[in-house]
Amino acid sequence: MRPDVIRVAGIAGSLRSGSFNRKLLRSAIELAPDDLKIELLDLRGVPFYDADVEKRGDPDTVAALKRRIREADALLIATPEYQHSLPGVLKNALDWASRPPSDPPLQRKPTAVMGATVGRFGTARAQAELRKVLAYNDALVLQRPEVMVPNAASAFDDDGALIDEDARSFVRQLLRNLAAWTRQVRDWRPPPAS
Ligand SMILES: Cc1cc2nc3c(=O)[nH]c(=O)nc-3n(C[C@H](O)[C@H](O)[C@H](O)COP(=O)(O)O)c2cc1C
Repeated sequence: MRPDVIRVAGIAGSLRSGSFNRKLLRSAIELAPDDLKIELLDLRGVPFYDADVEKRGDPDTVAALKRRIREADALLIATPEYQHSLPGVLKNALDWASRPPSDPPLQRKPTAVMGATVGRFGTARAQAELRKVLAYNDALVLQRPEVMVPNAASAFDDDGALIDEDARSFVRQLLRNLAAWTRQVRDWRPPPAS
């Protein structure tokens, strides 16, 4: 691998095998520029956040999730929209990744978001909610382009490839921006308190 390659952890906020958001991430792997490599994380097996469990030590699936987020140069999250918000499975994973508050894996992590839905509004409302969660964690969230894939049932072919040309070009641009954004901000640290 090129030494200057940006390593991105991809998270789909859906567990189902036919997930359009996982298809969107798989399409992003194909559309990525040479200097950006995406590896998918799996949220299956991540238990509900429970402070009592956390006190005894992170379960293996949680420890692996947090380690892979820490090790990645950047995050790419594809969120479905559930009830005008992000799905519980994704929020739960981000709850774990917001811990410990003194050094959370999400902190200052360059992050891009996108989403696909069978609905008409392309996950706009879910993405707004997701951006709030990421802001709480001081993740360094890329703002543009906003990648929203409405009418997902016709945006992908039978093999799961993204065939909507506008969406393909937005994803391409998002990934180019994410590579540049990550190089720009990954060493950023707030100045010491005066
Ligand atoms: C509980 C639930 C709530 C949903 N709410 C919304 C919604 O508010 N807006 C929307 O566009 N789609 C909504 N949908 C449709 C999902 O966005 C759609 O099923 C999508 O394909 C899920 O993502 P996935 O394909 O990655 O699993 C909802 C689906 C479920 C199961």
